[in-house]
Amino acid sequence: MNIQQNISLKEFNTFGIDAKAKEFVVINTVEELCIFCAAFNLSDRNILVLGGGSNVLLTGDFDGMVIKMNLKGMEMVSENENHVWIKAMAGEVWHDFVLYCIEKGLGGVENLSLIPGCVGAAPMQNIGAYGVEIKDTFDSLEAVEIASGDMVKFSNSDCKFGYRESIFKQEAKGKYIISSVIFKLAKHPVCNVSYGAIQQVLEEKKITNPTVKEVSDAVISIRQSKLPNPKVLGNAGSFFKNLEIPAAQFNALKIDYPTIVGYPASSGNIKVAAGWLIEQAGWRGKVVGNVGSHKDQALVLVNYGGATGSEIWQLAMDIQASVQQKFGVTITPEVNVI
Ligand code: FAD
Ligand code: EPU
Repeated sequence: MNIQQNISLKEFNTFGIDAKAKEFVVINTVEELCIFCAAFNLSDRNILVLGGGSNVLLTGDFDGMVIKMNLKGMEMVSENENHVWIKAMAGEVWHDFVLYCIEKGLGGVENLSLIPGCVGAAPMQNIGAYGVEIKDTFDSLEAVEIASGDMVKFSNSDCKFGYRESIFKQEAKGKYIISSVIFKLAKHPVCNVSYGAIQQVLEEKKITNPTVKEVSDAVISIRQSKLPNPKVLGNAGSFFKNLEIPAAQFNALKIDYPTIVGYPASSGNIKVAAGWLIEQAGWRGKVVGNVGSHKDQALVLVNYGGATGSEIWQLAMDIQASVQQKFGVTITPEVNVI
């Protein structure tokens, strides 16, 4: 293991923030990870685990050790008549895993095509898009407990998945490093095309009974038309989460703002589109110095070049305050602010 000092993290976060890590190490195997946790007393250290760095905002230099997960490998671990269980290591690129499933004609993750980042981070916030979340195909994961170096298994229910939530952002925060995830994929997929935008693309292509590959291609084209490519314009996807509020509060807002966008959530509350709130507060397309809210998607904050993390954080706080002032609701970050 080669521990490097004073390393720029610019290439390791999709905002492209040029913060430095005091120490930086790349972990390639589970064995290395276990030895590393035990030998370096990681529980006493300030550590930051990174996959693809597509959901972090580095507000300054990191005065600790960055652990870049590079564990690779994907394999089928079991199957029955209807399902296949596939294990993917934490450092695999998420979209490569999706393509691996699609090539085999397996269903369940096609709607999650092209989400940036690595497999190991996917359970952290129960990644979701176009009507699907990983909790729908997640079987279990293995993680190293940082304090002991022991391997621990988490089932689907152990993870306490919610909308952009899991146990790893709550009571288990900072206690485990995820090493691999097992997914349960369908051998006879029934595609979820409930999302209007997917239906529209399929209709345009005159596809009535889509394959997983056709749904994946539709999702890819929607994403490419809506979201800025981080390789071109630094960003971390949606900066804030959508907001759940009681129906009575939503109806009251609807009186003053008849075009407000909201959908019934499984909890019985209404999920309000934070992008709409931010746009209505006047931020969509606004540029402040090196940063701004994207012109096509107000929820996505971008680095136009040379921004510091604290500039982006200041913009986020200004947006949050103006949404609070205009609508009386608090939008909270989805991105992990370091
Ligand atoms: P990182 O940013 O490296 O890490 C995220 C968090 O997880 C950090 O707290 C980190 O410490 C922790 N972590 C990472 N790996 C591990 C590990 N192995 N063990 C323990 N902790 C770990 N998200 C969605 O849900 N849906 C979307 O549609 C979506 N679209 C996006 C579009 C764009 C253009 C971008 C830039 C981002 C988008 N995201 C989306 C957010 C992001 O892609 C996901 O959250 C992704 O899972 C992050 O993966 P990562 O490897 O980059 O994580
Ligand atoms: N909207 C606006 N103005 C904007 C942006 C959006 O009015 O500037 C309105 C749209 O008109 C639409 C609604 O808000 O009616 C929802 O917009 P969109 O379909 O773009 O989805 P979103 O809620 O903004 C969420 C996820 C995305 C995910 C998409 C597709 C969150 C925080 N974001 O975005 O995830 O890809 O749905 O399912 O839940 C991410 O998490 O990083 C991410 C990109």
